[in-house]
Amino acid sequence: MPKVKIGVLISGSGTNLQALIDNIEKGLINGEISIVISDKKDAFGIQRAKKHGINAVEIDKKNFADKNIFMKAIMDELEKHHVELVVLAGFLSILSEDFIEKFRNRIINIHPSLIPAFCGKGYYGQRVHKAALDYGVKVSGATVHFVDEGADTGPIILQEAVKVEDDDTPESLAARILKVEHKLLPQAVKLYCEGRLTIEGRKVIIRTQND
Ligand code: GRF
Repeated sequence: MPKVKIGVLISGSGTNLQALIDNIEKGLINGEISIVISDKKDAFGIQRAKKHGINAVEIDKKNFADKNIFMKAIMDELEKHHVELVVLAGFLSILSEDFIEKFRNRIINIHPSLIPAFCGKGYYGQRVHKAALDYGVKVSGATVHFVDEGADTGPIILQEAVKVEDDDTPESLAARILKVEHKLLPQAVKLYCEGRLTIEGRKVIIRTQND
């Protein structure tokens, strides 16, 4: 089976990107990262990629007055590297409809809550964890899902719950959930790269290795 060419989009520190790199280097994923793109200048994730000899570029959103031209620049870069699977690893820009159409069912996102709780427009970064704590939930967690036109509405691939402690702060909860993200995202990418994910309506069916 040929390796799946992966494009990873980031906006910041890139610890999820690092988890993917580590799993690929260990030979656990039948894929290779062809390009890492950051929509922000000086994102630390770019340095992580370069350190591992991976192509990485900044396409700074601030340099584009028009969203469609910005999206087109990202799509062109992905195309240049023959990307088959797009992974959003802490990518903060909202994708255009053209982008989603072009990579239909081939875009995976990680979100730091148990979707459909604390997700959608405005729920990013520490806001997600603050909202969960303010609500008083006993569990939160991480979700990996396919991306569709809605905000965090696409079919769910994997989820894992994380217990909320009475003395949690948004920072402490985020840190525990991030550890789970680092496990869940590579696991979902691995399943995708082995061709084991099938979307049936809203459901993602995961085939076992022997099916
Ligand atoms: C993660 O919590 C991710 O779920 C969210 O942004 C954070 C990114 O972290 N969308 P990193 O850049 O991968 O370290």
